[in-house]
Amino acid sequence: MKKAIWIVGPALSLFAAGAFAQSVDVAAAEGLMKKSGCFKCHSVTAKKDGPSYHSVAEKYKGKADAEAKLTTHITTGPTVKIDGKEERHEILKSKDAAEIKNVVAFILSR
Ligand code: HEC
Repeated sequence: MKKAIWIVGPALSLFAAGAFAQSVDVAAAEGLMKKSGCFKCHSVTAKKDGPSYHSVAEKYKGKADAEAKLTTHITTGPTVKIDGKEERHEILKSKDAAEIKNVVAFILSR
């Protein structure tokens, strides 16, 4: 019976990871992003001053560091070029790690 345990263990953890990946609280993510002014320059599907979240998700698809990169981007405010002018990128109006993670998961799943 030892064998069965080896098979069930990994299967369960895969299932747990899958369930986690899908658990984005869309309303919470959109609410926080609205409050932070993110939709002034971004939409999910259309390019505005910033890239669409869909194209960001495409760019980072399958990249192991996607979550870390996006978290840094939306919490530290790196300099970005907007209409040829350098500006600090907006940061999320939250210091709550779970809320930030939820927004990153929201973007990556568009
Ligand atoms: C004043 C306009 C503006 C606002 C407001 C803004 N962004 Fe951006 N954002 C940009 C631009 C321009 C880029 C492209 C930067 C680049 O590619 O160098 C960008 C890039 C991004 C990226 C992609 C980063 C990458 O590594 O490819 C993400 C994710 C993002 N923004 C999320 C957000 C979030 C979340 C907010 C709200 C907290 C926000 N943005 C607010 C203009 C804006």
